[in-house]
Amino acid sequence: MAECKSRHGYSSCSNRHRKMSLLWLLLMICAFSGDSGGGGGPGGFIRLAAAEHVRELEVSEGVPIGHQIGFIGEFVHDENGDSGPPYLIVPVPGSAVDTDLAIDHTTGEIRTKVALDRENRSSYSLVAIPLSGENVRVVVRVLDENDNAPTFPTPIMSIEFPENTPRDVKRTLNPARDADLGRYNTQRYSIVSGNVNNAFRLSSHRERDGVLYLDLQINGFLDRETTPAYSLVVEALDGGSPPLRGQMTVNITIQDVNDNQPIFNQSRYFATVPENATLGTTVLQVYATDQDAGENGQVEYAINRRQSDKEQMFRIDPATGLISVNKPLDFETRELHELVVVAKDRGMQPLETTAFVSIRVTDVNDNQPIINVIFLSDDATPKISESAQPGEFVARISVNDPDSRTEYANVNVTLSGGEGHFGLTTRDNIIYLVIVSLPLDREIKPNYTLSVIATDTGNPPLHAAKDIFLTVTDINDNAPEFEKDVYHANVMEVADPGTSVIQVTAVDRDEGNNSAIVYSLLDTPDTHSHWFQIDSHSGLITTRAHIDCETDPVPQLIVMAQDNGRPPLSSTGTVLVTIHDVNDNEPIFDQSFYNVSVAENESKGRCILKVSEARTTPQSPQTVPH
Ligand SMILES: *[C@@H]1O[C@H](CO)[C@@H](O)[C@H](O)[C@H]1NC(C)=O
Ligand SMILES: *[C@@H]1O[C@H](CO)[C@@H](O)[C@H](O)[C@H]1NC(C)=O
Ligand SMILES: *[C@@H]1O[C@H](CO)[C@@H](O)[C@H](O)[C@H]1NC(C)=O
Ligand SMILES: *[C@@H]1O[C@H](CO)[C@@H](O)[C@H](O)[C@H]1NC(C)=O
Ligand SMILES: *[C@@H]1O[C@H](CO)[C@@H](O)[C@H](O)[C@H]1NC(C)=O
Ligand SMILES: *[C@@H]1O[C@H](CO)[C@@H](O)[C@H](O)[C@H]1NC(C)=O
Ligand SMILES: *[C@@H]1O[C@H](CO)[C@@H](O)[C@H](O)[C@H]1NC(C)=O
Ligand SMILES: *[C@@H]1O[C@H](CO)[C@@H](O)[C@H](O)[C@H]1NC(C)=O
Ligand SMILES: *[C@@H]1O[C@H](CO)[C@@H](O)[C@H](O)[C@H]1NC(C)=O
Repeated sequence: MAECKSRHGYSSCSNRHRKMSLLWLLLMICAFSGDSGGGGGPGGFIRLAAAEHVRELEVSEGVPIGHQIGFIGEFVHDENGDSGPPYLIVPVPGSAVDTDLAIDHTTGEIRTKVALDRENRSSYSLVAIPLSGENVRVVVRVLDENDNAPTFPTPIMSIEFPENTPRDVKRTLNPARDADLGRYNTQRYSIVSGNVNNAFRLSSHRERDGVLYLDLQINGFLDRETTPAYSLVVEALDGGSPPLRGQMTVNITIQDVNDNQPIFNQSRYFATVPENATLGTTVLQVYATDQDAGENGQVEYAINRRQSDKEQMFRIDPATGLISVNKPLDFETRELHELVVVAKDRGMQPLETTAFVSIRVTDVNDNQPIINVIFLSDDATPKISESAQPGEFVARISVNDPDSRTEYANVNVTLSGGEGHFGLTTRDNIIYLVIVSLPLDREIKPNYTLSVIATDTGNPPLHAAKDIFLTVTDINDNAPEFEKDVYHANVMEVADPGTSVIQVTAVDRDEGNNSAIVYSLLDTPDTHSHWFQIDSHSGLITTRAHIDCETDPVPQLIVMAQDNGRPPLSSTGTVLVTIHDVNDNEPIFDQSFYNVSVAENESKGRCILKVSEARTTPQSPQTVPH
């Protein structure tokens, strides 16, 4: 049946050569009919009909239309005896001779009718039957030209590598194909661009089908965190001169592997929270990042309860890292909370990091600072001796947080109210010392009210004030003083022993025992002090014995006032006593003439002359001392 069809195909074909003589047609039909063999193809019947020789012609592909390929009968008609043109042209079925070649059967000239393409059809076959002699089997071979570039099946190819893929691992890429033959086929590949840090290289090998197969190999180490993707432009070149090229973009996605642990943006976090903070109050936020992608880079936060905050005073939001108050805080119970916070990624094999969070609880109710004063006196009471020299310390001042008991630094402490007698000194702005600036005198000012004010530059500013009531203590720096230097007293000669003569008073400006006065009389026998006595406490002078105007009309006393200080101080005063004679009897003079001299400024009532009665022992007249 195949032959039948061929025959029909041939018949229809030969219809176009109606000019051919009927005779030849019949000849051919006979030849076919007589072919009892199974050999297919037109050659069979031609061989039966006549002997055949082969005429091979070559033509490069792509030559212009109308290009002369050659002649059928050239060189052959001499030896083989074909009769030359004209020919009956019989194309081999399916060889497209009719469409692509123009054959002049009268001359045997073959020309191209279309642009030939070896890659479409590499040869043409026909049988030329001369009027006599051997048939010519004509084969026109189309020669290859480099008219095809290597071509990748797709312009873009996407592949993926996990970032921990070892070096030299291969991935097959779609190879480029080039329809041309031999050296005009694909010869090599190269990466034109996109190969950051030479991460990849190409390798290729040719297989039996002639295709140059292509592999992409890892040339180094992949790190998604550094380069997450590559876009390589791969070029294929053939062996032409110049070579033709084809390109393909290879998009490479580096797949994440959990090779990075979360990293906190601080290794330690600090925060303070007032102790009355309500539950849920946010204290601070910790923050960690993980360079990995997807779940490998998603960070979850937790408090490590095994190591910290077992009481769950605080809690942390796993997603945001916000730490908030979970239970009522109490400054007095716990002032500092140290939390160990863990950041963990959500990879299959998670990685984690820890950070430390210090939360200081502040005492809100009691944050008023207090000024702490320590007096440097022997019994730590607010006093200073009036003998204190400038520069001597009075008190130590510091400003304390009463709850933490820590002393504030850089506090500005000022002092007022000392009238310049007191000042402040500090070396470190933490401890201040109150010092004496000017000499003190208790007898002038026995006490001072000093005001201490502490401020700082904080926000809110620290402000505290305190008054100090400072007593100046006494030293025995004043002797008793008599109200007068000289006292005058009168006493009747007849006075009984014990009669009051005069009370002297001395005053001591000191206080206490330093001003407790004891009076005494100095023993002066020549001025008859023994006639008198003095009360040591009251200073009252009384007679002690009978006094005698004639013996001494003006006895003179030296009184001493001594205080009870240590050592005691004393002073003296003079008492002049005038003794008055009292006589109510008729006087009997023992002398008829008394010769007495009296100073003109002599005080009134003074004994200037004692006139004794006759019975008394005559006494020598007494003259006035001055
Ligand atoms: C191949 O050749 C046939 C005729 O022989 C033609 O019709 C066709 O267009 C050609 N194809 C190409 C790709 O040149
Ligand atoms: C390939 O990568 C390039 C550059 O990154 C991008 O513009 C393009 O859209 C990618 N193509 C595909 C198919 O992923
Ligand atoms: C905490 O105490 C301070 C001072 O007493 C007060 O001003 C503040 O309002 C209190 N806060 C809360 C949440 O009770
Ligand atoms: C760390 O992150 C926290 C929360 O976002 C932020 O408050 C803090 O300022 C950051 N610290 C640094 C050093 O960037
Ligand atoms: C302390 O206060 C005084 C008086 O207000 C001021 O003159 C002085 O500059 C202050 N010192 C400091 C360190 O603030
Ligand atoms: C303090 O001294 C004044 C005199 O400057 C005095 O009047 C006052 O009584 C004294 N106060 C005390 C408590 O000693
Ligand atoms: C005062 O002196 C008396 C007697 O010398 C003594 O007993 C007393 O203790 C002294 N008082 C003081 C306060 O020193
Ligand atoms: C009295 O005495 C003075 C000197 O003592 C003497 O000069 C004078 O003469 C005397 N007078 C009589 C009258 O004796
Ligand atoms: C009288 O005057 C003398 C000399 O001027 C003087 O020394 C004497 O103390 C005075 N006597 C009296 C009691 O005033």
